[in-house]
Amino acid sequence: MVLRNMNDKEEMLKSIDELKKDLSLKNNEIARYLDKIDALEQEIARLQKLVPDEPSKIKFKKEKPEDVFDPDGASAIIIKDLVKQFDDVTAVNRLNLEIKKGELFGLLGPNGAGKTTTINMLVGLLNPTEGTAVVGGYDVKRDLNKIKEMIGVCPQEASVYKFLKGRENVELFGNLFEMDKKLLKERADKFFEASGLKEASNRKAKGYSGGMIRQLNLIIALINDPKIVFLDEPTVGMDPRARRKTWNFIGDLKQNDKTIILTTHYIEEAEALCDRVGIIDYGELIALGSPKELMKKHDATNLEEVFMKITGRRILEGV
Ligand SMILES: Nc1ncnc2c1ncn2[C@@H]1O[C@H](COP(=O)(O)OP(=O)(O)O)[C@@H](O)[C@H]1O
Ligand SMILES: [Mg+2]
Repeated sequence: MVLRNMNDKEEMLKSIDELKKDLSLKNNEIARYLDKIDALEQEIARLQKLVPDEPSKIKFKKEKPEDVFDPDGASAIIIKDLVKQFDDVTAVNRLNLEIKKGELFGLLGPNGAGKTTTINMLVGLLNPTEGTAVVGGYDVKRDLNKIKEMIGVCPQEASVYKFLKGRENVELFGNLFEMDKKLLKERADKFFEASGLKEASNRKAKGYSGGMIRQLNLIIALINDPKIVFLDEPTVGMDPRARRKTWNFIGDLKQNDKTIILTTHYIEEAEALCDRVGIIDYGELIALGSPKELMKKHDATNLEEVFMKITGRRILEGV
């Protein structure tokens, strides 16, 4: 190396010093990791000693009574201290809520309140950060497969096959559930008629409007006659007439003894139809009760006014 002048030499000596310091830091780090590896190896050896020699000696954990929570009780859904954290956003913040069997329950709140995140944790699309929920007697953290057998889900993001006809979409899902062909056809006919999608059912979903796709999604969610139904914004994108028809259709499901939990920011429709509503804002439950109870308690003429009184703003702000 040719040094051009003294300055360069000093600079280089400084650099060497810095590199030496850096090297010693890295060496320390490596030493710490080696210690950790040692500790882990010891832990592995300890655990290996605990594994029984014969597989027959391994005892499978039996379901304790608390593993199957309230299966024949009055609650369809029990939410316990549920939290979902996305980096710095607490989307659901210690939610506690019980939804009774056969209830039509509306989860209301402005955009970004945490409605979809809550539903997604209840149906197994998201893992809770903390807390848990019991759906149909089973814990979402342990028995998702059992839960999935008894629920129907209409997600916020539409999920239909656009190159298939409406009816073919419903048949596809019915066949996945291994439904009897006759029953599948009967139920599909009934739902297409009731939802107002009958005429369009023989057309490809590619040409459907956003509202029609939601109606198709709703039928798919119900085709297997699930006990508990989750509908995330079922009427979004529908014109007022289709919306009314769909709300009637959802209301009629109650006669079949289903538990329905739906989210919406159409607060006046929920007010007309839901047995009880929970209003959430910033991931927290801020009001719970029948629409009438809430209006009485907050001395309001409608639910929108209740929301205004509690939060100081309109539920539809920013939508
Ligand atoms: N996958 C995600 N990653 C990061 N933040 C998210 C994610 N999903 C939702 N959020 C945030 O969590 C909050 C609640 O969202 P969401 O549950 O979709 O509300 P709602 O359905 O009530 O409109 C919002 O602030 C949203 O931006
Ligand atoms: Mg949502």
